[in-house]
Amino acid sequence: MGNAKKSKPLLSLRFKTIITLIIVHSILISSLIFYTFAHFHHMVEDLTRDHYALISSSFAPLLAEALQNEDLESIRKYLSRLKDNPGIIYAAIFNSKNEILDKRSYSEFEKHFKHILAERENEISSASVSREIGHASGFFHREGHNFDFSIPVVRDQRYLGKIYLVVNTADINQRLARESIQGIKIIVGAILAGMLVIALIDRRLKKILTHLIAVTRNMAQGDLTEKVHISTGDEIETLGDSFNIMAEAIQERERIIEEHEHHLEEMVKERTLELAEERDKLQAILDHVPSAIVMVDRQLIIRMVNSKFESTVNRPANDCLGKHCCEAFCPCLDPQACQVRECLEDGEIKTHINHSMSDSYAEQHMEHLVVPLWREGKTYGALEIITDITEKYEMQRQLIRAEKLSTTGEFASFMAHEIRNSITSIKMILQLLRERVQETMHKDIAVAQDSISRMERLVTDLLNFARPAEIKMTHQNIHQLIEESVQLTHYQFPQKPIKVQLDFDPNISTVLIDRDSMEKVFINLFLNAVQAIPESGTVKITTSRHILDKNLYDYASLPSAENELSFPALIRKIVLKKDQPVVLIEISDTGEGIPRECISKIFDPFFTMKTNGTGLGLSLAKRIVNAHSGIITVRSEKDRGSTFSIYLPLKEAA
Ligand SMILES: Nc1ncnc2c1ncn2[C@@H]1O[C@H](COP(=O)(O)OP(=O)(O)OP(=O)(O)O)[C@@H](O)[C@H]1O
Ligand SMILES: [Mg+2]
Repeated sequence: MGNAKKSKPLLSLRFKTIITLIIVHSILISSLIFYTFAHFHHMVEDLTRDHYALISSSFAPLLAEALQNEDLESIRKYLSRLKDNPGIIYAAIFNSKNEILDKRSYSEFEKHFKHILAERENEISSASVSREIGHASGFFHREGHNFDFSIPVVRDQRYLGKIYLVVNTADINQRLARESIQGIKIIVGAILAGMLVIALIDRRLKKILTHLIAVTRNMAQGDLTEKVHISTGDEIETLGDSFNIMAEAIQERERIIEEHEHHLEEMVKERTLELAEERDKLQAILDHVPSAIVMVDRQLIIRMVNSKFESTVNRPANDCLGKHCCEAFCPCLDPQACQVRECLEDGEIKTHINHSMSDSYAEQHMEHLVVPLWREGKTYGALEIITDITEKYEMQRQLIRAEKLSTTGEFASFMAHEIRNSITSIKMILQLLRERVQETMHKDIAVAQDSISRMERLVTDLLNFARPAEIKMTHQNIHQLIEESVQLTHYQFPQKPIKVQLDFDPNISTVLIDRDSMEKVFINLFLNAVQAIPESGTVKITTSRHILDKNLYDYASLPSAENELSFPALIRKIVLKKDQPVVLIEISDTGEGIPRECISKIFDPFFTMKTNGTGLGLSLAKRIVNAHSGIITVRSEKDRGSTFSIYLPLKEAA
């Protein structure tokens, strides 16, 4: 990665520079020493020979004279004078025929090299005449710092002879060695000075590099305020200046980026606030819609539900969120027929009503509205709006029921009036006839009178139904009332082996009710229970005090105020709220039960499944219970029996 820490280099720049300088230095000095020592020897030889040739030649005119005249005395003088020249250790004078005229040894030299000298002199004697200065032979080198050479003596272009000289260079060599040592000292001094200079340069370089490294590290950590301070007046100073320019450029860029960032942050904050506001608004709308709202994406995954979801669908939201809608909701028998899928595919709004019934025969009616969500001409999801329309549905049914009541009630009351008038006449005629006919006819007239009485009761029932009696609420012992109602009814079925169980809550003393009306309710329910039992069975009546664990509601048709006989003008909603104390009276039997499809109809007036029933019993019972602000419900199971529950709001006796 870009920021990965690099390992330290194997050789630092400093080390490399010093090593390079030392190598260059060493090569230069070694070359110098090698050159000096290689040429030193020849140089000494040449210089010495030239020196002595010069010395000898200074005496040449004098020697030429002496050689021309073969003046041995002058030659001897000449050789004596040569003695004054330090370094000459042997000299010999040859004539033009290369014969030795005289010779002189100036040191012990001759003793030690006598035979070699003789050989050399012979060589010179036998050699052809040379006018050149003889080359140094180097003959004596191995024996010491001696060497020889000959110098020709020439006058007027005539060869007169030559001088043979052996020279000792020990002194010169010593002097040169001394000089060399001096030179070496100077070189060593130069090397040391050079090294010192290198060390100083290195120190300076190290300081600059350390400074540069420190500044760049700080830069890397974000501190761009520090500057590079180098004043070497060379490229390194330029490098330092470039660093500073670069830092300033980065600083400027950072400032611009910071400004942009700040600006962006402000914009993001603003947008976030706006979005939060919008979201809150939307959430408030969604949460206050009295329907469950479910949002699914194109893959039918549930992405969002509103707060009403749990209470409407009766499922925890977390059970469904993130799941496929088929998995979450329906055991989708045919997933292809799913309306959400259809809506996503064709982009059209779909709607349907789902009717269901709980195990306790409570009906539920749910309206499903599926709306597509569009983006860039394509559906990206759908909103399913689920509304519980059970109340609406119930109300509609109640209205229909009320309408039916209105027409049939009016007709029934009219007919009852007319029939009652006729019945009264027939009753009077029968009474008159009884007085006038023979006693044998009295039995037949009694049967006719009984039938007329039953007809009169039916008509009274019809009239009672059509024109409900006024409710007068008083505190009544409800247990006593139930017992009396059971007794009144029970004697009608002496032949049926029906077991009646009464299970009363002793904590319930009196309840605020209209005694006569409630008696009708108990009689009707008990009668129905007994009639539902085919041969033998049990009817159980229980009372208990309850605190409701959920809201209960019902719709009641109220008679119109203007015309008692034509009702209903009003539909009243009766609600028993959660936590409300109620008296619960349950009448259950082990009878044949009510078919599922009839459950919703049994409280309708004139609905009956009996051949001699009027279908008014339950309708009347419901109306009376509703008039007490109570609710009556039923649960039933085919062939196992039914249970009617009456919830009366509890208003304790004052
Ligand atoms: N306990 C019950 N068991 C089974 N079915 C019942 C029960 N109570 C009522 N029903 C059914 O409900 C219908 C309506 O009852 P309702 O009391 O309103 O009228 P009815 O009993 O038929 O006539 P009436 O009450 O005038 O004699 C009955 O015909 C019956 O089929
Ligand atoms: Mg009945």
